[in-house]
Amino acid sequence: MKCRICQENITPFMTYGRMPIANGFLLPDQFENEYFFNLTPAFCDKCLTFQIEEQPDPKLMFHDQYAFFSRTSVHMQRHFKAYADWVYDNHLKGDSPFVVELGSNDGIMLENFAKRGIRHLGVEPSANVAEEARRHGVNTIVRFFGPETASEIVEEYGQADALLAANVMCHIPDLNGIAKGASALLKQDGVLIFEDPYLGSMIEKTSYDQIYDEHVFIFSALSVANIFGPHGFELIDLLKQETHGGSMRYVLARKGARSVSAAVTKILADEKAQGLHLSETYDSFRERCEASKARLVRLLQDEKAAGRRVVGYGATSKSTTILNYCGIGPELVEFISDTTPIKQGKFTPGMHIPVKPYSAFAENYPDTALLFAWNHKAEIMEKEKAFTEGGGKWLTHIGED
Ligand code: TYD
Repeated sequence: MKCRICQENITPFMTYGRMPIANGFLLPDQFENEYFFNLTPAFCDKCLTFQIEEQPDPKLMFHDQYAFFSRTSVHMQRHFKAYADWVYDNHLKGDSPFVVELGSNDGIMLENFAKRGIRHLGVEPSANVAEEARRHGVNTIVRFFGPETASEIVEEYGQADALLAANVMCHIPDLNGIAKGASALLKQDGVLIFEDPYLGSMIEKTSYDQIYDEHVFIFSALSVANIFGPHGFELIDLLKQETHGGSMRYVLARKGARSVSAAVTKILADEKAQGLHLSETYDSFRERCEASKARLVRLLQDEKAAGRRVVGYGATSKSTTILNYCGIGPELVEFISDTTPIKQGKFTPGMHIPVKPYSAFAENYPDTALLFAWNHKAEIMEKEKAFTEGGGKWLTHIGED
């Protein structure tokens, strides 16, 4: 395959096998025509970008039935308020600033700008979530972002002070198009700020469930510098985040336009110390994924042999990789409880485990809960004290026996 960024020839370092659309929760009459592709991650040792080889057509993933609403977690609402406040305090200095967000989902971040009366625009390809954003007073257009959309925006609103994204950039195969769009959209001293699940955290935790169809890239600072560098941007700041089990916020500006923080040098050095630029790192990651799979399947089989009920907690997109890679179906996990109405009553992609409302968990506790929403662990442990204190056991695919 060719690297999606620099066109170098690269080879996947492993396969997770046949995978369905991660957010493709479905009904039994759709089982027969379910779409599958091969999930194979690769690392480019030239531009240092971690990516997946094959990605389904974006229209199969982001459409008017997209099952992902950002507002489902209170912690995430708080996170996005803090993100917006930080952007406001640090990067919106001039008169009547203008902020654009790409992949603005249900408006969870932009509403914080809307509430302050700041000129803003969300660019969101999924019509159903965009509609929800508008209900929250967030100005939104239903569109994929690229150079054309950027010039339309500039024509209508003028250039932007900040282009923001959260958990979106890693979804976009044509990042060169995004970089060109960013360059056209931003003022001379404007900033491109985005955050995404962080490669360093994924490698450290072996949290391979970050790898699924939507995440065509898992970034490091090393790779982000190489992706946007050729388009005239440089990293000016980096901030680690707790979200999504470990994320990074990248701040870029046109080369020389803004001062560069010490965090950039520090984190680039840390990444080299971790070996994120070396192919060997991904070979040992593959071995740890295989060990993690063997461990999880063994633990679930032990639960079953002991006659204990296991229920999944949080029908995350991430869980699709775990369930399909490990071959875990309803014989090992009775159902998965999830608070998102659009997922309830449906079945998980590929392995077809029923998804039930939260009440199915709360009203009849299982013996063991398999925590798929492990990135919300603090929030969930707080909420589920009664289950835990009553002797309920938690399992995740991450960690040791
Ligand atoms: P999310 O963290 O966004 O993960 P992904 O990006 O992998 O989909 O999804 C969390 C899911 O877990 C979402 O469907 C809502 C659900 N959830 C619960 O059911 N209960 C909870 O208490 C929380 C925090 C989330």
